[in-house]
Amino acid sequence: MTTQAPPSEFSGRNAAEYVLGTGSDESIRLGLQHRLWSAATHALWERAGVQPGMTVLDLGCGPGHAAMDLAQIVGPTGRVIAIDESAAFLKQLHDQAVARKYHHVERVLGDVQDLAQVLPGEQGQVDIAYARWVFCFLSRPEDVVRGLAGLVRPGGRVAVQDYFNYERSLTLAPRREAFSKVISAVAASWRARGGDTDIMSRLPGMFLKAGFEVTHLEVVQRIARPGTTLWHWPNSFWQTFLPRLVESGFITAEDMTAFNTVWQEASNDPASFVQLPTLYELVVTRRA
Ligand SMILES: C[S@@+](CC[C@H](N)C(=O)[O-])C[C@H]1O[C@@H](n2cnc3c(N)ncnc32)[C@H](O)[C@@H]1O
Repeated sequence: MTTQAPPSEFSGRNAAEYVLGTGSDESIRLGLQHRLWSAATHALWERAGVQPGMTVLDLGCGPGHAAMDLAQIVGPTGRVIAIDESAAFLKQLHDQAVARKYHHVERVLGDVQDLAQVLPGEQGQVDIAYARWVFCFLSRPEDVVRGLAGLVRPGGRVAVQDYFNYERSLTLAPRREAFSKVISAVAASWRARGGDTDIMSRLPGMFLKAGFEVTHLEVVQRIARPGTTLWHWPNSFWQTFLPRLVESGFITAEDMTAFNTVWQEASNDPASFVQLPTLYELVVTRRA
C-alpha cells in the first residue's frame, strides 16, 4: 500500500481511536512535539545507524512527522513503512507524502501488536524499527517485541523513545498539589486502557528474551521555563487532553480549573519551571 493509493482507501475500516484522540488539535500537538524533540530523535537515529537505502519501520507513526524525516534520510532507494491504527492520521501522512512526491513512504493501517499479520511479506526485511511514544499506550507490548523479532533482520536494530517514572518525573516547580493530582490522573487514564507509563522498565527484558542485545539505554531530561517555546509542549497537552480527562471522569471540572489556575500562575512567574517527563531511549540489536 503506497502513497499513490486513493485517500479514501481506508474509509470502510473502523479507525480505532487512541487515548489522546486523532483530531486536528492532536495532530497539531504532535507536530509541535516532533519539532521540539526532533534533535534528540535524530541523534537516536544516528546512534541506531539509519542510512540511505535502508528499510525502516515507523511503529505508531501518527500523522507521520517522524516518518517524513526518515524518508529524507533513507532516500528513494530506501523504504519507510509507517504503521498506525488511525486511518485519519494515515490520511495526513498520505497527503504529505504525495505533496512531496515521497513514493518510498508506505502506509499500513493496523495494530502494531499483530505485526506478523499486518506485514506478512516483510519477515527479516527491516533494517531499523522505530517507536516513539507508542509502547506506553499498548496492552500487549510483548506481542510487538515478538513481532519485531520476526521482521528485523539479524544485525538490524530497534530504537524506542518512551517513558518510565512518568508521574514522578513530570513536576511543576515550585510544587503544586493541583498539578500533581492531574498528572496522576493522566497516568491512571492510560493504565485504564491497558497502557503503562512505566513501560520502559520492562522493555529491555522483553527484547533480551526475544533475541535482541541492548546496545544503548539513556535518558533525555529537559526543563521548560515560561516564555520559552518548550513551555508550549506541556501547555498544548493540557489543552487537548484535560477536557477529555473530565469527560471520562478521571478528574472533575473543579480539578481542571484548579490545575489551569496554578498553570496560569506558573506561566506568569519567571521563577517557575517544569521538569518534563524523563524520556528514555533504548536501542537494541537483533542477534545474528
Ligand atoms: C503519541 S502518538 C505518537 C505518534 C508518533 N510516533 C510520534 O512520535 O509523533 C501515538 C500513536 O500511536 C498510535 N497507536 C496507538 N496504539 C496503537 C496500536 N495498537 N497499533 C497501531 N498504532 C497505535 C496512535 O494512533 C498514535 O498515532
